[in-house]
Amino acid sequence: MSQLHVINHPMVQHKLTKMREKETGSKDFRELLKEISLLMGYEITRDLPLEEVQIETPICKTTAHCISGKKLAIVPILRAGLGMVEGLLELLPVAKVGHIGLYRNEITHKPVFYYCKLPDDIQQRMVIVTDPMLATGGSASDAITMLKEKSHCTNIRLMCLVAAPEGIEKVRQDHPDVDIYVAAVDERLNDDAYIVPGLGDAGDRIFGTK
Ligand code: PRP
Ligand code: URA
Repeated sequence: MSQLHVINHPMVQHKLTKMREKETGSKDFRELLKEISLLMGYEITRDLPLEEVQIETPICKTTAHCISGKKLAIVPILRAGLGMVEGLLELLPVAKVGHIGLYRNEITHKPVFYYCKLPDDIQQRMVIVTDPMLATGGSASDAITMLKEKSHCTNIRLMCLVAAPEGIEKVRQDHPDVDIYVAAVDERLNDDAYIVPGLGDAGDRIFGTK
């Protein structure tokens, strides 16, 4: 079964609280999301394998450790997932970036597909799917299915900011092989399938749309 990792580091929780506040404008919201993404990236890469290398310090020769050839890809779910890419790239500057475009139908709350562009060699990479909001879980689950069916990805992690229990359950049911990283698990979904208390519409708050 997939593991749920709740990253409850005080720095992450403090920044997330600022993001939740309705008075926080787009500029601050974007900056906070970038900062949290970098901090979460630290946890999501915690188990990357290391290999020994021989180096020479100014004092002597020694054996030290480097990340072993592990390749990464970041795949944001458009639009809101884009807000998590910059922070991750600061930590993982050589990661390739793919894009999957999905939006939720306002009535049915089901994801509607509109775009997919992925790195050719993504199958050989550990893939971090990003989306700040995991509500019903439909968008994340469909994006992961696409990565598996279209590109045969086998090493996928999902990174979200705020999740509803319903979304976590759906992704775990559909993709038991995918670990989920979140900064908070909120109470529930409301009748419009928005997360409560949540932070509102993440895409609109990042990009200043309505
Ligand atoms: C939001 C969010 C997720 C999705 C979550 O995107 O960024 O992709 O909803 O909901 P789900 O778990 O119920 O599928 P939205 O459809 O609003 O598109 P946007 O990012 O372009 O604003
Ligand atoms: N999408 C959002 O942006 N926010 C929610 O609470 C649910 C879906």
